[in-house]
Amino acid sequence: MSVLPSESSGRVTVPEILSRKKFRSGQPPVTERKITSLTAYDYPTARLVDEAGVDIVLVGDSLGMVVLGYESTLPVTIDEMLHHTRAVRRGVRRALLVADMPFGTFHNGSGDAVRNATRFVKEAGAEAVKIEGGERRMELVSRLVEAEIPVMGHIGLTPQSLNALGGFRVQGKTAETAEALVRDAQALAAAGAFSIVVEAVPREIAARITASVPVPTIGIGAGPDCDGQVLVLSDLLGLTGGHTPKFARRYAEVGAAIREAAAHYVDDVQQGTFPSDAESYHLTGASRDSVSAKKV
Ligand code: KIV
Repeated sequence: MSVLPSESSGRVTVPEILSRKKFRSGQPPVTERKITSLTAYDYPTARLVDEAGVDIVLVGDSLGMVVLGYESTLPVTIDEMLHHTRAVRRGVRRALLVADMPFGTFHNGSGDAVRNATRFVKEAGAEAVKIEGGERRMELVSRLVEAEIPVMGHIGLTPQSLNALGGFRVQGKTAETAEALVRDAQALAAAGAFSIVVEAVPREIAARITASVPVPTIGIGAGPDCDGQVLVLSDLLGLTGGHTPKFARRYAEVGAAIREAAAHYVDDVQQGTFPSDAESYHLTGASRDSVSAKKV
């Protein structure tokens, strides 16, 4: 079979994401059209965010907390991630689909990590994987890129490091830790990552990171100077209970709408107002005659 070069299909690709960051000699890089990303975990929401024009749909391992009800992202398994990535794949037509490699799937040698990442591409249709961690993931990122699997890096607050970090805290608040974050980002870019999520980092430091790497940064709780932004869909929709961080702007109150709709339904059933006659099927014509002849 021969393969023809594809005309631009309108789909978001890794090279297209990379090309958003423009370089002019002697000046810091700029991204005129910011990159937008949202998480999704199932078919209907993936379809809706794709139709809304989001560039990157991320099946984040936040799945564990916002959909599966775990206390952290640490228990999420590769099978859970594959299952949800397949569902999201069926809903995404235009956006780039990135799947998060969950805790424990890239820590046991690069052979194991490449095998696990390959499953996301082959079995679930992901077009790239995301990996938490900076400098120390350099070799792994190169191995994945060599295996034709594009990698999105993730630095700053990396939720899989919960136990090592001792909690979810803003990162890079001292000169040393800020320097380390810049080094992390540069290492990931040098290893071939096509973009880097920067999570929970002071705006000033995220801006420095963004100016110091040739690939787009995608911020979450990292201020407006990153090349793009990502949010957890459940936060944006108002579906998350409890504390939400200050960067997670709520664009809707879907949680309240669901609770209200369910309570209204319970009320209607109890009051006998649901279902109405108009919401019921009726016997008609011959079937009515035959049933009444048998005096059912
Ligand atoms: O798991 C996730 O949803 C993420 C985003 C917050 C970037 O990693």
